Amino acid sequence: MTVPPPIAMLAELTHRCPLSCPYCSNPVELARAETELATEDWVRVFREAADLGVLQLHLSGGEPASRRDLTDLVRAAREAGLYTNLISSGIGLTEARLAELDAAGLDHIQLSLQGTDAGMADEIGGYRGGFVRKMQVAGWIKAIGFPLTLNTVLHRRNLHQLPRALEMAEEMGARRVEVATVQFHGWALRNRDALMPTREQAKEATRIVAEARVRLKGRLVVDYVPADYHSDYPKRCMGGWGSTGLNVAPDGTVLPCHAAQTIPHLTFENVRHRPLADIWYRSSAFDAYRGTGWMAEPCRSCDRREKDFGGCRCQAMALAGDAGAADPVCVKSPHHAALQARAAAHAAATAPLIHRTAPGRPVPAEPVVG
Ligand code: SF4
Ligand code: FES
Repeated sequence: MTVPPPIAMLAELTHRCPLSCPYCSNPVELARAETELATEDWVRVFREAADLGVLQLHLSGGEPASRRDLTDLVRAAREAGLYTNLISSGIGLTEARLAELDAAGLDHIQLSLQGTDAGMADEIGGYRGGFVRKMQVAGWIKAIGFPLTLNTVLHRRNLHQLPRALEMAEEMGARRVEVATVQFHGWALRNRDALMPTREQAKEATRIVAEARVRLKGRLVVDYVPADYHSDYPKRCMGGWGSTGLNVAPDGTVLPCHAAQTIPHLTFENVRHRPLADIWYRSSAFDAYRGTGWMAEPCRSCDRREKDFGGCRCQAMALAGDAGAADPVCVKSPHHAALQARAAAHAAATAPLIHRTAPGRPVPAEPVVG
Protein backbone atom coordinates (compact mmCIF):
# COMPACT_ATOMS: atom_id res chain seq x y z
CA MET A 1 0.00 0.00 0.00
CA THR A 2 1.10 3.60 -0.55
CA VAL A 3 1.64 5.32 2.76
CA PRO A 4 0.88 9.05 2.81
CA PRO A 5 2.93 11.35 5.05
CA PRO A 6 1.52 12.24 8.48
CA ILE A 7 -0.36 15.52 8.87
CA ALA A 8 0.07 15.99 12.61
CA MET A 9 2.62 15.16 15.27
CA LEU A 10 2.01 15.15 19.01
CA ALA A 11 5.20 15.98 20.88
CA GLU A 12 4.86 14.84 24.47
CA LEU A 13 7.56 17.15 25.76
CA THR A 14 7.47 15.83 29.32
CA HIS A 15 5.41 13.62 31.60
CA ARG A 16 5.92 16.02 34.50
CA CYS A 17 2.68 17.76 35.48
CA PRO A 18 1.47 19.77 38.47
CA LEU A 19 -1.98 18.17 38.17
CA SER A 20 -2.77 14.54 38.95
CA CYS A 21 -6.04 13.95 37.09
CA PRO A 22 -7.61 10.51 37.64
CA TYR A 23 -8.62 10.42 33.94
CA CYS A 24 -5.05 10.79 32.68
CA SER A 25 -4.52 8.57 29.64
CA ASN A 26 -0.73 8.66 29.86
CA PRO A 27 0.93 5.36 30.80
CA VAL A 28 0.98 4.15 34.40
CA GLU A 29 4.80 4.26 34.34
CA LEU A 30 5.82 7.76 33.28
CA ALA A 31 9.09 8.91 31.73
CA ARG A 32 11.40 10.48 34.31
CA ALA A 33 12.74 14.00 33.74
CA GLU A 34 16.30 12.73 33.17
CA THR A 35 15.18 10.58 30.21
CA GLU A 36 13.51 13.46 28.33
CA LEU A 37 14.85 14.57 24.96
CA ALA A 38 17.09 17.64 25.20
CA THR A 39 16.23 20.91 23.46
CA GLU A 40 18.53 20.20 20.51
CA ASP A 41 16.98 16.75 20.02
CA TRP A 42 13.48 18.19 19.85
CA VAL A 43 14.63 20.90 17.44
CA ARG A 44 16.06 18.23 15.13
CA VAL A 45 12.86 16.16 15.43
CA PHE A 46 10.74 19.21 14.49
CA ARG A 47 12.86 19.72 11.34
CA GLU A 48 12.59 16.05 10.47
CA ALA A 49 8.82 16.22 11.00
CA ALA A 50 8.46 19.21 8.69
CA ASP A 51 10.63 17.49 6.04
CA LEU A 52 8.43 14.40 6.37
CA GLY A 53 5.32 16.46 5.60
CA VAL A 54 3.90 17.15 9.06
CA LEU A 55 1.90 20.40 9.08
CA GLN A 56 0.61 20.65 12.65
CA LEU A 57 2.63 20.21 15.81
CA HIS A 58 0.78 19.66 19.08
CA LEU A 59 2.97 20.38 22.10
CA SER A 60 1.67 18.37 24.97
CA GLY A 61 2.65 16.36 28.04
CA GLY A 62 2.22 16.03 31.03
CA GLU A 63 2.29 19.78 31.25
CA PRO A 64 4.46 21.23 28.47
CA ALA A 65 4.92 24.43 30.48
CA SER A 66 7.01 22.30 32.87
CA ARG A 67 9.75 22.49 30.22
CA ARG A 68 11.86 25.61 30.79
CA ASP A 69 12.79 25.63 27.10
CA LEU A 70 9.17 25.76 25.88
CA THR A 71 9.56 29.14 24.18
CA ASP A 72 12.73 28.00 22.39
CA LEU A 73 10.93 24.87 21.23
CA VAL A 74 8.00 26.88 19.86
CA ARG A 75 10.38 29.21 18.06
CA ALA A 76 12.26 26.29 16.53
CA ALA A 77 9.04 24.61 15.42
CA ARG A 78 7.84 27.80 13.74
CA GLU A 79 11.20 28.21 12.03
CA ALA A 80 10.80 24.66 10.73
CA GLY A 81 7.48 25.78 9.21
CA LEU A 82 5.14 23.92 11.58
CA TYR A 83 1.80 25.22 12.86
CA THR A 84 2.16 25.14 16.66
CA ASN A 85 -0.57 24.27 19.14
CA LEU A 86 0.13 24.26 22.88
CA ILE A 87 -2.02 21.88 24.95
CA SER A 88 -1.84 23.05 28.58
CA SER A 89 -3.64 23.10 31.90
CA GLY A 90 -2.47 26.71 32.21
CA ILE A 91 -0.48 25.96 35.36
CA GLY A 92 3.02 27.28 34.76
CA LEU A 93 1.94 29.87 32.19
CA THR A 94 2.48 33.42 33.43
CA GLU A 95 1.49 36.58 31.62
CA ALA A 96 5.15 37.22 30.73
CA ARG A 97 5.64 33.67 29.48
CA LEU A 98 2.55 33.89 27.29
CA ALA A 99 3.88 37.12 25.79
CA GLU A 100 7.19 35.34 25.03
CA LEU A 101 5.34 32.45 23.42
CA ASP A 102 3.38 34.93 21.33
CA ALA A 103 6.61 36.61 20.22
CA ALA A 104 8.06 33.17 19.41
CA GLY A 105 5.14 32.60 17.04
CA LEU A 106 2.86 30.20 18.94
CA ASP A 107 -0.23 29.79 16.75
CA HIS A 108 -2.88 28.30 19.03
CA ILE A 109 -3.60 27.22 22.61
CA GLN A 110 -5.77 24.41 23.93
CA LEU A 111 -6.62 24.97 27.58
CA SER A 112 -7.93 22.05 29.61
CA LEU A 113 -10.87 22.45 31.98
CA GLN A 114 -11.30 19.93 34.82
CA GLY A 115 -14.52 21.49 36.13
CA THR A 116 -16.51 24.71 35.90
CA ASP A 117 -15.97 25.76 39.52
CA ALA A 118 -13.06 25.61 41.92
CA GLY A 119 -14.58 22.80 43.99
CA MET A 120 -14.86 20.40 41.04
CA ALA A 121 -11.78 21.52 39.10
CA ASP A 122 -9.39 21.43 42.03
CA GLU A 123 -10.70 18.08 43.26
CA ILE A 124 -10.33 16.44 39.84
CA GLY A 125 -6.98 18.06 39.07
CA GLY A 126 -5.70 17.38 42.58
CA TYR A 127 -4.31 20.92 42.69
CA ARG A 128 -5.68 23.48 45.13
CA GLY A 129 -5.96 26.95 43.59
CA GLY A 130 -5.68 25.52 40.08
CA PHE A 131 -9.07 26.79 38.91
CA VAL A 132 -8.46 30.38 39.98
CA ARG A 133 -5.08 30.27 38.27
CA LYS A 134 -6.57 28.82 35.11
CA MET A 135 -9.18 31.58 34.91
CA GLN A 136 -6.38 34.12 35.18
CA VAL A 137 -4.48 32.38 32.36
CA ALA A 138 -7.65 32.32 30.23
CA GLY A 139 -7.89 36.11 30.68
CA TRP A 140 -4.28 36.59 29.52
CA ILE A 141 -4.82 34.31 26.52
CA LYS A 142 -7.85 36.37 25.51
CA ALA A 143 -6.03 39.67 26.03
CA ILE A 144 -3.11 38.58 23.84
CA GLY A 145 -5.55 37.25 21.26
CA PHE A 146 -4.35 33.65 20.89
CA PRO A 147 -6.85 31.48 19.03
CA LEU A 148 -8.19 29.24 21.82
CA THR A 149 -9.79 25.82 22.11
CA LEU A 150 -11.22 24.87 25.49
CA ASN A 151 -10.79 21.14 26.23
CA THR A 152 -13.16 19.50 28.67
CA VAL A 153 -12.99 15.89 29.81
CA LEU A 154 -16.40 14.72 30.95
CA HIS A 155 -17.15 11.84 33.28
CA ARG A 156 -19.74 10.78 35.81
CA ARG A 157 -18.71 13.40 38.36
CA ASN A 158 -18.78 16.49 36.14
CA LEU A 159 -21.11 15.71 33.22
CA HIS A 160 -23.81 17.93 34.76
CA GLN A 161 -21.43 20.87 34.25
CA LEU A 162 -21.42 20.56 30.45
CA PRO A 163 -23.87 23.48 29.82
CA ARG A 164 -21.73 25.78 31.97
CA ALA A 165 -18.53 24.58 30.23
CA LEU A 166 -20.03 25.63 26.89
CA GLU A 167 -20.91 29.05 28.32
CA MET A 168 -17.39 29.44 29.67
CA ALA A 169 -15.89 28.64 26.27
CA GLU A 170 -17.91 31.52 24.81
CA GLU A 171 -16.95 33.87 27.65
CA MET A 172 -13.27 33.05 27.12
CA GLY A 173 -13.56 33.91 23.44
CA ALA A 174 -12.73 30.35 22.37
CA ARG A 175 -13.27 29.48 18.71
CA ARG A 176 -13.66 25.80 19.46
CA VAL A 177 -14.57 23.61 22.41
CA GLU A 178 -13.63 19.97 22.62
CA VAL A 179 -16.13 17.99 24.67
CA ALA A 180 -14.48 14.61 25.23
CA THR A 181 -16.02 11.94 27.36
CA VAL A 182 -13.30 10.19 29.36
CA GLN A 183 -11.42 7.55 27.35
CA PHE A 184 -10.13 4.68 29.40
CA HIS A 185 -6.45 4.28 28.57
CA GLY A 186 -3.36 4.31 30.77
CA TRP A 187 -3.98 5.59 34.28
CA ALA A 188 -7.69 6.20 33.60
CA LEU A 189 -8.33 2.44 33.41
CA ARG A 190 -7.89 2.41 37.21
CA ASN A 191 -10.73 4.86 37.61
CA ARG A 192 -13.53 3.25 35.66
CA ASP A 193 -15.58 2.65 38.81
CA ALA A 194 -15.21 6.31 39.81
CA LEU A 195 -15.59 7.96 36.41
CA MET A 196 -17.74 5.82 34.09
CA PRO A 197 -20.80 7.88 33.10
CA THR A 198 -24.20 6.26 33.20
CA ARG A 199 -25.91 5.48 29.90
CA GLU A 200 -28.45 8.24 30.67
CA GLN A 201 -25.67 10.76 31.27
CA ALA A 202 -24.01 9.76 27.99
CA LYS A 203 -27.29 10.27 26.11
CA GLU A 204 -27.89 13.61 27.77
CA ALA A 205 -24.40 14.80 26.80
CA THR A 206 -25.09 13.87 23.16
CA ARG A 207 -28.38 15.80 23.31
CA ILE A 208 -26.74 18.89 24.83
CA VAL A 209 -23.96 18.86 22.23
CA ALA A 210 -26.42 18.50 19.34
CA GLU A 211 -28.47 21.42 20.64
CA ALA A 212 -25.35 23.53 21.26
CA ARG A 213 -24.04 22.88 17.73
CA VAL A 214 -27.21 24.43 16.30
CA ARG A 215 -27.35 27.31 18.78
CA LEU A 216 -23.66 28.22 18.51
CA LYS A 217 -23.23 27.73 14.76
CA GLY A 218 -20.86 30.32 13.34
CA ARG A 219 -19.67 31.35 16.84
CA LEU A 220 -18.18 28.27 18.45
CA VAL A 221 -17.27 24.90 16.93
CA VAL A 222 -18.17 21.99 19.23
CA ASP A 223 -16.06 18.83 18.78
CA TYR A 224 -17.44 15.82 20.61
CA VAL A 225 -16.06 12.45 21.70
CA PRO A 226 -18.99 10.38 22.98
CA ALA A 227 -18.85 7.78 25.78
CA ASP A 228 -17.65 4.85 23.72
CA TYR A 229 -18.37 2.05 26.22
CA HIS A 230 -22.04 3.01 25.76
CA SER A 231 -21.82 3.25 21.95
CA ASP A 232 -22.57 0.71 19.23
CA TYR A 233 -19.75 1.60 16.87
CA PRO A 234 -16.16 2.53 17.72
CA LYS A 235 -14.30 5.72 16.96
CA ARG A 236 -11.76 5.89 14.14
CA CYS A 237 -8.86 6.10 16.53
CA MET A 238 -5.94 8.32 15.39
CA GLY A 239 -7.77 8.61 12.05
CA GLY A 240 -6.54 5.07 11.40
CA TRP A 241 -3.28 3.54 12.72
CA GLY A 242 -0.21 5.05 11.02
CA SER A 243 -2.30 7.05 8.58
CA THR A 244 -2.46 10.71 9.62
CA GLY A 245 -0.49 11.23 12.82
CA LEU A 246 2.25 10.09 15.15
CA ASN A 247 3.31 10.72 18.75
CA VAL A 248 6.77 11.24 20.13
CA ALA A 249 7.04 10.34 23.82
CA PRO A 250 9.22 12.42 26.18
CA ASP A 251 12.16 10.01 25.80
CA GLY A 252 12.00 10.05 22.00
CA THR A 253 10.05 6.82 21.47
CA VAL A 254 7.88 7.19 18.37
CA LEU A 255 4.37 5.79 18.72
CA PRO A 256 1.39 5.38 16.38
CA CYS A 257 -0.83 6.55 19.29
CA HIS A 258 -0.32 7.51 22.92
CA ALA A 259 -1.34 4.11 24.32
CA ALA A 260 0.51 1.94 21.78
CA GLN A 261 3.02 0.70 24.33
CA THR A 262 0.23 -1.30 25.97
CA ILE A 263 0.43 -3.67 22.96
CA PRO A 264 3.16 -6.00 24.18
CA HIS A 265 4.31 -7.63 20.94
CA LEU A 266 5.15 -4.33 19.20
CA THR A 267 8.67 -2.87 19.18
CA PHE A 268 8.98 0.89 19.01
CA GLU A 269 11.84 2.89 17.55
CA ASN A 270 13.41 6.02 19.00
CA VAL A 271 14.32 9.29 17.26
CA ARG A 272 17.64 9.20 19.08
CA HIS A 273 18.64 6.25 16.86
CA ARG A 274 16.61 6.45 13.65
CA PRO A 275 15.27 9.29 11.46
CA LEU A 276 11.58 10.05 11.86
CA ALA A 277 10.80 9.40 8.18
CA ASP A 278 12.39 5.95 8.40
CA ILE A 279 10.27 5.15 11.44
CA TRP A 280 7.08 6.36 9.76
CA TYR A 281 7.60 4.53 6.46
CA ARG A 282 9.66 1.50 7.47
CA SER A 283 9.05 0.32 11.04
CA SER A 284 7.18 -2.80 12.06
CA ALA A 285 5.07 -1.03 14.71
CA PHE A 286 3.66 1.49 12.22
CA ASP A 287 3.04 -1.22 9.63
CA ALA A 288 1.34 -3.58 12.08
CA TYR A 289 -2.20 -2.15 11.82
CA ARG A 290 -2.04 0.12 8.79
CA GLY A 291 -4.92 -0.06 6.35
CA THR A 292 -7.19 -3.09 6.41
CA GLY A 293 -4.91 -6.01 5.48
CA TRP A 294 -4.37 -7.06 9.13
CA MET A 295 -8.07 -7.40 9.88
CA ALA A 296 -9.85 -10.60 10.90
CA GLU A 297 -13.60 -11.11 10.99
CA PRO A 298 -15.94 -9.37 11.67
CA CYS A 299 -13.96 -6.32 10.44
CA ARG A 300 -12.53 -7.97 7.29
CA SER A 301 -15.88 -8.21 5.53
CA CYS A 302 -17.56 -5.24 7.22
CA ASP A 303 -18.68 -2.30 5.08
CA ARG A 304 -17.48 0.13 7.77
CA ARG A 305 -13.90 -1.14 7.73
CA GLU A 306 -12.52 1.92 5.96
CA LYS A 307 -14.66 4.23 8.04
CA ASP A 308 -13.44 3.28 11.53
CA PHE A 309 -10.53 0.92 10.71
CA GLY A 310 -11.82 -1.50 13.33
CA GLY A 311 -11.80 1.14 16.09
CA CYS A 312 -9.03 1.44 18.65
CA ARG A 313 -6.21 -1.16 18.68
CA CYS A 314 -5.27 -0.32 22.25
CA GLN A 315 -8.85 -0.71 23.44
CA ALA A 316 -9.07 -4.07 21.64
CA MET A 317 -5.88 -5.08 23.49
CA ALA A 318 -7.15 -3.88 26.87
CA LEU A 319 -10.67 -5.29 26.61
CA ALA A 320 -10.41 -8.30 24.28
CA GLY A 321 -6.77 -9.22 24.94
CA ASP A 322 -6.03 -9.00 21.19
CA ALA A 323 -4.93 -5.82 19.43
CA GLY A 324 -5.97 -7.36 16.10
CA ALA A 325 -9.58 -7.90 17.16
CA ALA A 326 -12.52 -5.58 16.47
CA ASP A 327 -12.79 -2.88 19.14
CA PRO A 328 -15.24 -4.39 21.69
CA VAL A 329 -17.23 -1.15 21.51
CA CYS A 330 -18.50 -2.46 18.15
CA VAL A 331 -21.87 -4.15 18.18
CA LYS A 332 -20.42 -6.86 15.88
CA SER A 333 -17.66 -7.79 18.35
CA PRO A 334 -18.23 -10.98 20.35
CA HIS A 335 -17.15 -8.94 23.41
CA HIS A 336 -19.71 -6.17 22.91
CA ALA A 337 -22.46 -7.44 25.20
CA ALA A 338 -19.99 -8.13 28.01
CA LEU A 339 -18.54 -4.64 27.58
CA GLN A 340 -21.94 -2.99 27.84
CA ALA A 341 -22.71 -5.00 31.00
CA ARG A 342 -19.34 -4.00 32.39
CA ALA A 343 -19.98 -0.33 31.56
CA ALA A 344 -23.27 -0.46 33.47
CA ALA A 345 -21.53 -2.09 36.45
CA HIS A 346 -18.75 0.52 36.48
CA ALA A 347 -21.33 3.30 36.22
CA ALA A 348 -23.27 1.90 39.21
CA ALA A 349 -20.18 1.43 41.39
CA THR A 350 -18.98 3.79 44.07
CA ALA A 351 -15.25 4.28 44.28
CA PRO A 352 -12.86 7.03 45.33
CA LEU A 353 -10.86 8.91 42.74
CA ILE A 354 -7.36 7.53 42.34
CA HIS A 355 -5.20 10.51 41.43
CA ARG A 356 -2.28 9.72 39.22
CA THR A 357 1.26 9.58 40.54
CA ALA A 358 4.14 11.71 39.24
CA PRO A 359 7.11 10.35 37.22
CA GLY A 360 9.43 8.27 39.42
CA ARG A 361 6.92 8.02 42.29
CA PRO A 362 5.79 4.56 43.50
CA VAL A 363 2.67 3.39 41.69
CA PRO A 364 -0.06 1.95 43.94
CA ALA A 365 -1.24 -1.58 43.18
CA GLU A 366 -4.02 -1.77 40.63
CA PRO A 367 -7.46 -2.06 42.22
CA VAL A 368 -9.51 -5.13 41.38
CA VAL A 369 -12.06 -4.11 38.74
CA GLY A 370 -14.98 -6.03 37.38
FE1 SF4 B 1 -15.74 -1.26 12.56
FE2 SF4 B 1 -14.88 -3.80 12.62
FE3 SF4 B 1 -17.15 -3.12 13.84
FE4 SF4 B 1 -17.06 -3.13 11.20
S1 SF4 B 1 -16.85 -4.92 12.55
S2 SF4 B 1 -17.97 -1.53 12.46
S3 SF4 B 1 -14.93 -2.44 10.84
S4 SF4 B 1 -15.07 -2.41 14.37
FE1 FES C 1 -3.99 3.31 20.44
FE2 FES C 1 -6.54 3.95 19.94
S1 FES C 1 -5.27 4.64 21.60
S2 FES C 1 -5.16 2.87 18.66
